[in-house]
Amino acid sequence: MHYDLLIRGGTCVTPWGEERTDLGIAGGRIVTLAAAAGDTAGAVVEARGLHVLPGLIDSHVHLRDPGDPAVETLPTGTRAAVLGGIATVFDMPNTVPPIADSASLETKRRYAEAQSWCDIGLYVAGAKSNIADLAALEREPGVCAIKIFAGSSTASLMIEDDAHLERAMRAGSRRIAFHSEDEYRLQARKPLFSTGMPYRAHMEWRDEECAFLGTRRLMALARRTGRQTHILHVSTAEELAYLRDCRDVATVEVLVNHLTQVAPDCYDRLGGFGVMNPPIRGERHREASWAALREGLVDTIGSDHAPHARSAKEKPWPDCPAGLTGVQTLVPLMLDHVNAGRLSLSRLVDLMAAGPARVYGLLGKGRLAAGYDADFTLVDMGARRTIEESWIASPCGWTPFAGQRVAGWPMATIVRGHVVMREDEVLGAPIGRLARFAA
Ligand code: DOR
Ligand code: ZN
Repeated sequence: MHYDLLIRGGTCVTPWGEERTDLGIAGGRIVTLAAAAGDTAGAVVEARGLHVLPGLIDSHVHLRDPGDPAVETLPTGTRAAVLGGIATVFDMPNTVPPIADSASLETKRRYAEAQSWCDIGLYVAGAKSNIADLAALEREPGVCAIKIFAGSSTASLMIEDDAHLERAMRAGSRRIAFHSEDEYRLQARKPLFSTGMPYRAHMEWRDEECAFLGTRRLMALARRTGRQTHILHVSTAEELAYLRDCRDVATVEVLVNHLTQVAPDCYDRLGGFGVMNPPIRGERHREASWAALREGLVDTIGSDHAPHARSAKEKPWPDCPAGLTGVQTLVPLMLDHVNAGRLSLSRLVDLMAAGPARVYGLLGKGRLAAGYDADFTLVDMGARRTIEESWIASPCGWTPFAGQRVAGWPMATIVRGHVVMREDEVLGAPIGRLARFAA
């Protein structure tokens, strides 16, 4: 047989286990998981000594486009993604202006197909003003989900009250992604804090009960309406315990930040560069997140890549905006966790490929299997590297993980048969396309 591309000699992480096998690719899709020794191809990727994973997906990024190009754009953010071993991103809608109607979505869709280095799904914002349109918007091409901020964060999009949340849940039928923090409690607690307090005040203001109360309210509404939800960045032990009894209406995302960083250390060490929503919390919550991950409660892991200008992050609390860069460091950090024995490589694939596909109804991706898109992340589990700020491709130019040593590194990113990253170099042209979803 002759293929467009052969990936030879790697250890492939298939849905049924690890196999040393050669992959044959044609027309941007996987033709065979068992290429023969005599098969030929237009190009060969030598993967001896590497693990071949299905193209990993970061299902939670804020690429800020349209917005401030000095911080991030869709081309720079997707370039950062492929450098970090990510083959598909799902991009959040809290841009300036937001993606909340058919016209802004269409403009973004055209731009994304012309300028992305990896494949991309687009969230559409649910707001009080567009509830009537949500059922149509969620069925448009390239839309991974409606995203609703039930508590305030960056930008002004929000649906905080039960009446509007219930109406939004009754509009349309696909799974809705929620930022879950109770806005009323956030506002009630604000006067307890003042400018110039130490950065750790961030987690005291937006405390555990803000998140837990928000999630309890959303679960009650999901039960009442029968609507499926994806609770983004679950950050407390209490929510995780509660969500065990909500598996009929909820899937669960945990962020690499909440698995990796711990308070108060992150605030003392990083100042504003440790501030995000929901906040990084104490060790008890990090342990609960790992326990939930091991028990199968966690469906997806994302980075919540949310870049801001360095000068803005240097401001005193609470003037520094919330959000941390992360799309480029997600895979290195998770591989380091694999090497430390905290999860297996196949569980990582479940969380970052199969999981997003299942939760969002993503078609043709998320598995190493015949007929699926030829998306791969090749990783060297034996590599030892230090995350350097000079490696960060986002124009804002910083990472909260600068100086961190990691074991395990993404060596190549392949998107529909195109090698877009090899050994820290971005190759070719932006060939990214819109991901496809079951409507
Ligand atoms: O920390 C955060 N930053 N949390 C969010 O929910 C939004 C994000 C952003 O867009 O900056
Ligand atoms: Zn986010």
